[in-house]
Amino acid sequence: MTVHDFLPRPLALVMVGKPARGKSYTARKLSRYLSWTGYRARVFNVGSYRRHLLGPGQDHSFFDPRNEEGLKARQRMAEAAMDDLVRWTRDGGEVAIYDATNSTRSRRAWVAEELGRHGIDCVFVELFTEDQSIIDANIRQTKLSSPDYRTYDPDQALKDFRTRVAHYESVYEPLTDESLSFIRVLDAGRSLYANRLDGYLPTALAQFLLNLHLGKRSLYLSRHGESLYNVEGRIGGDSALSPRGEAYAVSLDQFLRNALPTDDVRLWTSTLRRTQQTARHLPWKSTAWRPLDEIEAGVCNNLTYQEIAERMPDEYAARKADKLRYRYPRGESYEDVISRVTPVILELERQTGPVVIIAHQAILRALYAYFHGEAATAVPHLSIPLHTVIQLTPTAYGCDEVRTALPPNPKAHFTAGI
Ligand code: F6P
Repeated sequence: MTVHDFLPRPLALVMVGKPARGKSYTARKLSRYLSWTGYRARVFNVGSYRRHLLGPGQDHSFFDPRNEEGLKARQRMAEAAMDDLVRWTRDGGEVAIYDATNSTRSRRAWVAEELGRHGIDCVFVELFTEDQSIIDANIRQTKLSSPDYRTYDPDQALKDFRTRVAHYESVYEPLTDESLSFIRVLDAGRSLYANRLDGYLPTALAQFLLNLHLGKRSLYLSRHGESLYNVEGRIGGDSALSPRGEAYAVSLDQFLRNALPTDDVRLWTSTLRRTQQTARHLPWKSTAWRPLDEIEAGVCNNLTYQEIAERMPDEYAARKADKLRYRYPRGESYEDVISRVTPVILELERQTGPVVIIAHQAILRALYAYFHGEAATAVPHLSIPLHTVIQLTPTAYGCDEVRTALPPNPKAHFTAGI
């Protein structure tokens, strides 16, 4: 059973909302989350089609509902994006995100009919808010840097954008049609209303949407300090830190106290000794999470990669051939790890302050991949070295990263493995 079995037909998530409600941000977040969990996902942003076909820089009058030419051009862009979306699902695309305002009943009826005609399931996702602080945060973080306003000064851009919003407001019809399948997210996750959601994926996505916010915060990832098993090149187990690993715990404490001079820090470790020993000097209360425990190597636990290659050459070769899907006998695969850490991702999304996570190579690969929008296939191959702090700061459309290697250098050992 893989994630694909949860999805008998392609699915389209159709964004709905006035401008500056966070639709494009949310569409990208959904797409990244879905790719990370293993689905073939892609955003079809109607605004990009407009910019591509007409060039950027239409002023607000283009969006005025009384502008007949503008209306026709916008319908053409919506159709071009829809054609590509349908073609993409025929080529194996699984979850398409159709990103536009889709702000009137008639537009939504057209979208639903087009998708239905091509055998694509459809869930509308409306982001609704009149909270000016949320709208202003969206405008600041996304709109004013949009290619539409490259040639405008900031005041002029803001004025034009506000008039564009007013045009949409004059025709906007909230999503109330109970015959449709939809998720309405109110005030950036303060509450959520779900209607006719069918199956695992749409309900899982509703849960994901509840936890999103646009606030800025940093996340600090570190593997545990070098362990006795690392020195011997053994995998799994529950060994203690080596003397170098102990020294890293001290360096990490100095580094993080300096970087985070505040009491308001969440500190999460796994339940294994080596992460807890690495965290022990840090000043914040730590929480040990089982979902952060290292990948379970089953029958290969406590062995070196060389021993696995000698004693179980078929297992060794199978893992090398498909490291994402390979499951250790009586253990886990990277796919299993990704689904196991999903609750951690939801918890991380809802945090508003800094979080420090001290965990393990496979686990941090999975978390890191999520924040960088890497697909599941990339996860097993990412580089997460020992004795290195990775600071990630999610931004509106990506993630900034700073890596800091701290002393002492770990001994060169056999972690590259299979
Ligand atoms: O070698 C350290 C370690 O954390 C092992 O416990 C774990 O099995 C391994 O890394 C995961 O890395 P890979 O998936 O590359 O074998």
